[in-house]
Amino acid sequence: MSLEKNVDSPYIGTQSINLGSQTNCLKMNKTGVAIVGLGTVGQGVAQLLLDHGDRTARHAGRTLWLTHVVVKDIHKPRDVDLPAGIITNDLNKVINDDSVKVVAQLVGGIEPARSIILKLLESGKDVVTANKALLAEHGPEIFDRARQLGRSVAFEASAAGGIPIITNVSQCLSANQIESLHAILNGTSNFILSKMDSEGGDYQSALTLAQKLGLAEADPAMDVDGTDAAQKLAILAHLCFGARVHWSDIPRRGIDSIDERDLKFSKHLGYRIKLIAFAKLAGTGIQLMVSPMLVKTGKPLAEVQANFNAVSVVGDAVGPVFFHGQGAGQMPTASAVVADMIDTAVGRTAITFKTLELWADGHQRVDFAEPGDLEGRYYMRFDVVDQPGVMGQITGRLGQHGISIASVYQHETQNEHQQTVPIVIMTHAAKESAARAAMKQIADMPTVAESPERFRILS
Ligand code: NDP
Ligand code: HSE
Repeated sequence: MSLEKNVDSPYIGTQSINLGSQTNCLKMNKTGVAIVGLGTVGQGVAQLLLDHGDRTARHAGRTLWLTHVVVKDIHKPRDVDLPAGIITNDLNKVINDDSVKVVAQLVGGIEPARSIILKLLESGKDVVTANKALLAEHGPEIFDRARQLGRSVAFEASAAGGIPIITNVSQCLSANQIESLHAILNGTSNFILSKMDSEGGDYQSALTLAQKLGLAEADPAMDVDGTDAAQKLAILAHLCFGARVHWSDIPRRGIDSIDERDLKFSKHLGYRIKLIAFAKLAGTGIQLMVSPMLVKTGKPLAEVQANFNAVSVVGDAVGPVFFHGQGAGQMPTASAVVADMIDTAVGRTAITFKTLELWADGHQRVDFAEPGDLEGRYYMRFDVVDQPGVMGQITGRLGQHGISIASVYQHETQNEHQQTVPIVIMTHAAKESAARAAMKQIADMPTVAESPERFRILS
């Protein structure tokens, strides 16, 4: 078959086609696929399907034939060369086309993304999505509807971007009771912290660059205030622990209120501050939180740079396992989406979707541990008036709450106008409730400036 004569081939006019394989794949069965949303991720998905049709065909045993691409604004310039006639702003073209079996839904936010997915499922399509905000908010509704209709939803790209963590925790590690999951799940926050740490860059210009690179959400506040990481943690906590938790019930803090001095002081002490999504089984309960934490330099999570994500999981049979890769950005995310499209076209997703019974009605397998009972070490920073006795008062209050001090570090005043000096205290393990109570008591001291800081040290 001549490729040039196959005028309905969506691959004509694209670059880097391996002609031999492509010619072969054109003889294969076709499965019609569509994309809804052609932004950062959608364009990456289109590029993989179009430029590497031979590769996807080899892995799927059929050609994934890109038939429609639905966008909001058909006149917007795009970075990807689409075959003529496939771009549209009419979702009905996908819904009414029976040749389309698999649709990558890559519109962000809640609406219209939710309605689009429900319409696609109701019209008999299997859906692939990267939209964690939607799944964290409406996962139960969407998965129930898909089950009722005998359809599937694949969502590998919804947590940790290009890292195949969803498949790993729900399939490859299914012989284990997962005991803990400590992860860097927001690429934008990690990008900002890395820039500030390694180049001394300022917060705002690092965020602006993350937005330019297509890492950040349409509303970047969700990246930097911990929301995005909490949404991903809610999904992973369900898969790992059977926890039915709404993301907004996960205690969370982002990097938007971090004082640059704490990055410097932590570095001086041999730690890096990272935005950590934390899940741990303690007795019969699970502890969940998203917060900046200190991680010892040299530990794998401390070395995760730029837009990379990482997930450190401990299973009772396998022991510790570490995953590392790009958690945000066009091609890493597209890699996960297209793999889901292949799995769905082949029929693998339908099997796992059915057996996993995600967010199906039923009892939650774990309870939530009392947050105050969580033990950990802490970094505490107090800005204090530089006068006799203040250090003793602070250490005395920590002692009253049973908190033992591992190290103390006081900075000299830089000039005669400086009103306060920072004291940094690293503690031994203590209960969250004790640390909270001691901090409050110390903050109330007249010699301590407002807003002392406290971060957990990840052990
Ligand atoms: P973008 O904002 O870059 O793109 C969104 C796309 O949705 C645009 O092409 C837009 O069309 C389209 N769209 C909006 N409304 C409609 C509508 N009513 N009908 C059809 N199309 C519509 O988002 P991203 O590509 O960055 O993200 C997509 C999803 O992937 C989000 O859920 C995000 O959270 C998730 N994600 C993103 C990652 C990243 O690194 N960017 C990583 C992992 C997940 P138009 O172009 O015409 O305006
Ligand atoms: N905005 C998200 C991040 C994209 O920065 O991690 C990946 O989900």
